[in-house]
Amino acid sequence: MIELNYANTGKILVQGHRGAMGYAPENTMSSFVLGYELGADLIELDIHLSADNKIFVMHDSDVSRTTNGLGYIENLTSSELEILDAGSWFSDKYKGEKIPLLKDVLEWAHDKINLIIEIKGNPQPNNLICEELLKQVYEYSMSDQVMVISFYHQSVKDIKILDSSIATGILYTGSPIHPCKMAIDAYAESIRPSIKYLTKEIADKAHKDGLCVSAWIGNTEKEFQTFVDAGVDSIGCNYPDRLRLWLDNHGLGV
Ligand code: G3P
Ligand code: CA
Repeated sequence: MIELNYANTGKILVQGHRGAMGYAPENTMSSFVLGYELGADLIELDIHLSADNKIFVMHDSDVSRTTNGLGYIENLTSSELEILDAGSWFSDKYKGEKIPLLKDVLEWAHDKINLIIEIKGNPQPNNLICEELLKQVYEYSMSDQVMVISFYHQSVKDIKILDSSIATGILYTGSPIHPCKMAIDAYAESIRPSIKYLTKEIADKAHKDGLCVSAWIGNTEKEFQTFVDAGVDSIGCNYPDRLRLWLDNHGLGV
């Protein structure tokens, strides 16, 4: 299982958010490879199910922002998704970049880098996605190399019910009264609030309850410091090299 409880050891992990989305088109193989090369300890990515039940890697449920196509992934088939250009919107340098299938990312990451896989949905994740995700994780023998996270806490719980050995985490924004209880109710091991909603009190309580704490997104030195002061175990960053350098210079790098 991925271990994220680094705060005790005075170390913090670098999560490459959607790969290295500050430098390359988010959630593409180029972005993941770059994130790895720039020193990320973990690569974060987002997944959806297509109309023919294949898992594609993309943030939005609608392909129009990050490809030259139109429509929702859930209504498009693999053959319709595979021909889309997921790179030109970012820059000509990435023209022809494909929307990756999850299995492409697993194949690349296997024995190389751990993955944080976020289940997306529109408005809820498709019920089949948890089983299909685990099937692929098993195919690449990566149970101890992935963590599954989501804003949809039922999906997080479903993963854990299907396989208690898979690391999981709940994402949230806003100020729930009991964020740690939310994680425990979902059988998760980590809380993952957005930067605005993380406080030291919440992080301390989470660690006391045996939970890890990861927060997103920190891209500037001021934001890195805010996260460190709160006591996180990992930080999601669009520019993994910036965070890597900053942590290493402060003796906080893994
Ligand atoms: O890792 C958590 C973060 O990625 C959640 O927000 O919108 O970037 O998927 P979003
Ligand atoms: Ca995400």
